[in-house]
Amino acid sequence: MSTIKLLFLFTFFSSLILGYGDGISGKYPIVVSTWPFVEAVRAAWRAVDAGFSAVDAVVEGCSACEDLRCDGTVGPGGSPDENGETTIDALIMNGVTMEIGAVAAMRYVKDGIRAARLVMEHTKHTLLVGEKASAFAIAMGLPGPSNLSSTESIEMWNKWKENGCQPNFWKNVIPLNGCGPYRPKSANGFSEGGYSKANLMGVIESRSSHFGLHSHDTISMAVIDKMGHVAVGTSTNGATFKIPGRVGDGPIAGSSSYADDGVGACGATGDGDIMMRFLPCYQVVESMRLGMEPKLAAKDAISRIARKFPDFVGAVVAVNKNGVHAGACHGWTFQYSVRTLEMEDVEVFTVLP
Ligand SMILES: *[C@@H]1O[C@H](CO)[C@@H](O)[C@H](O)[C@H]1NC(C)=O
Repeated sequence: MSTIKLLFLFTFFSSLILGYGDGISGKYPIVVSTWPFVEAVRAAWRAVDAGFSAVDAVVEGCSACEDLRCDGTVGPGGSPDENGETTIDALIMNGVTMEIGAVAAMRYVKDGIRAARLVMEHTKHTLLVGEKASAFAIAMGLPGPSNLSSTESIEMWNKWKENGCQPNFWKNVIPLNGCGPYRPKSANGFSEGGYSKANLMGVIESRSSHFGLHSHDTISMAVIDKMGHVAVGTSTNGATFKIPGRVGDGPIAGSSSYADDGVGACGATGDGDIMMRFLPCYQVVESMRLGMEPKLAAKDAISRIARKFPDFVGAVVAVNKNGVHAGACHGWTFQYSVRTLEMEDVEVFTVLP
């Protein structure tokens, strides 16, 4: 009998005995995150490698990014809204139970992912918003109320005001070039109370100015733990100069991230206002469920958005239950970080559009 055949038989029988392929193999644990958020991945890895659950690891990883204020777009101190305020969007999902907890437009509390976990584990709800989310988080023991602004965010906001509040997220309004208050503008140029014709026709505008190469905007992290259980989490302080009250894709399950124990997980980043209309991570996970490889599933989800919004900027990263990972992007170069047992440290992968 050849060595290859022996090896095959050994692998075959050990797979029966050890349950190889069911979590005890070298495929798990694995941590995958958007962007080169290396410290966040290391923090998640330390947790999952020590035997903690995927949910625990996601919390450790995303919290590390919130504490480090990754790129100024996660945690406190970044992305001021039109009033100069920083607010937090976050989500966590347990792929075993399909339980989700999320907070949106949360004020005065910096711990987004921890607040999301409290919603998931101590309420029957899925999403809490605004000041009520802050009150909940503080009542449940998180620090606050705290000032989420930083010298940098206030400086950014002052410069934006000096620049006539440009760029901003308004369309079909008067004044077009200047600060608010804004009024709806009709298609013929006059202000009126109702919906403008342009709005009804669905005017598609270029948004790339808001999501340049330097606004990485979100950590979305997927973890498969030693037991083979899957969890995902997302944390962001949203879009810079957003209209107060805006909620992006961050706390929307299936959009910024999604996990299913039987399939794998997905994380997304980019122009959340557009991406949340397509639930790209739900799409990725469902495509993988039907047998698509992560690379194809990721590309397919991105191309569905690009067909309708050719100017959108975004990316997804997918990982399946075999530990195979891949990314796809549009409008920018995307990077994601991975740590597995085979790696000495976190590795950063680059995906070209
Ligand atoms: C919050 O912090 C910012 C930046 O340090 C500061 O400019 C602002 O005055 C503070 N706001 C309050 C209410 O203390």
